[in-house]
Amino acid sequence: MKKREGFGSSFGVLVAMAGSAVGLGNLWRFPYLVGTNGGAAFIIIYLAFVLLLALPIMYSEFVIGRRSQANVFGAYKVLAPGTKWCNIGFIYVLCSITIISFYSVVGGWTIDYLIKALSFQFDVADNAVLGGMFDTTVTSSYKPLIFMLIFIIATALIVLAGIKRGIEKYTKIMMPVLFVMVVVIAVRSATLPGAGAGLDFLFKPDFSKVTANTFLEALGQAFFSLSVGAGTIMTYASYVDRNESIVGLSAQTAIADTLFAIIAGLAIMPAVFSFGISPSQGPGLVFITLPYIFAQLPLGSFIAIIFFFILFIAAITSSISMLEVIVAYVSEELGLSRKGAIALSVSVILVLGSLCSLSQGVLSDITLFGNNIFDCFDKFSANILLPLGGLFAVIFVGWRMKKADVTDEITSAGIYKYPSFMQNFIYFSIKYLAPLVVAVIMLQGLL
Ligand code: PFF
Repeated sequence: MKKREGFGSSFGVLVAMAGSAVGLGNLWRFPYLVGTNGGAAFIIIYLAFVLLLALPIMYSEFVIGRRSQANVFGAYKVLAPGTKWCNIGFIYVLCSITIISFYSVVGGWTIDYLIKALSFQFDVADNAVLGGMFDTTVTSSYKPLIFMLIFIIATALIVLAGIKRGIEKYTKIMMPVLFVMVVVIAVRSATLPGAGAGLDFLFKPDFSKVTANTFLEALGQAFFSLSVGAGTIMTYASYVDRNESIVGLSAQTAIADTLFAIIAGLAIMPAVFSFGISPSQGPGLVFITLPYIFAQLPLGSFIAIIFFFILFIAAITSSISMLEVIVAYVSEELGLSRKGAIALSVSVILVLGSLCSLSQGVLSDITLFGNNIFDCFDKFSANILLPLGGLFAVIFVGWRMKKADVTDEITSAGIYKYPSFMQNFIYFSIKYLAPLVVAVIMLQGLL
């Protein structure tokens, strides 16, 4: 068998995982979900889900991927040969395709906005004008398609370069830059006059706004943000060396991602309140509100350039992880070369992405339960496919794999020693807690 490529260093694995996790989910999706779901109460539920549900799933995906050293479909064939378990792999491939399709559309918007920032088009401090600008950007038919295409090609080129010389090399540079940039904007935003109301909104919970749907949204967001349930962790883990720490890498990824989300909240909410804008504007929040804010800040044009550059980098380090899930599957299971696998995957994504993009404008009449194609892709993947993919991963590790094998993998064959209460809790959360709670929330939210 051909030897598979792998990551070159622990830091490389960490930034690739954190790069996958930190993305539009933190900077675009998290702030507007916090805004539309009542602020701090949503954040508290979200944090609990990250800790109690997303982390055990992350460990499980890690165990499956690293132990099998195979793609999402092949992994189950290696670990449960001759059974039907491998069909779960399709959920991950489907999920990655669905997410990357609408994600690339937003990725395209970030490029468009970066160009707008570079040509100082946000110098108008008028919410209506900026709202109109966003509408025109997303509803026009061919321009967003071109930007989406550029975004997908950039993603494909990095994936084509491979694990070490593509994914690892680029995320290693991009992630630290990203972190410094978001912190700079958060400091600026949190020190604006009147920023206190935004801080209250982020940190003072109001539980009266919480409904069953809030739980489903928080669950979907926890999974979406940490990239669990789509097979990305499983796929990256298959390139990870046996002596890396599963618990350590997962915890560091979760911490980095959560930190980014909170800092993104700090970058956006205080400014939103300081300028008297409604926090519940929905998906347009970062694209309408922030340019409005930038227009009124000293050095605002410069900050706008930095921000949209950040958004672009964050998006691309995530989209490469989704493309890798699909490409690893197509090349290893269908026997295509890596190049051929990328070409095939990109073609499918282009078609679906175009539908998502056009559904903002000319195809907006096509709806399902009141959602256009773009929203359907978003909700179906985050609130159904991701939890389902996660659910199967924990069920497989908790109920199908031998406990001794799981422990062996989690401790890297005894290299890492954890107190027994911690080891027991990890196993308990994989076997009982995560499957049960995820199933209940999904049913409750969907029924
Ligand atoms: N975690 C990414 C974000 O927060 O933007 C999105 C994502 C990437 C979701 C990869 C799922 C995935 F498999």
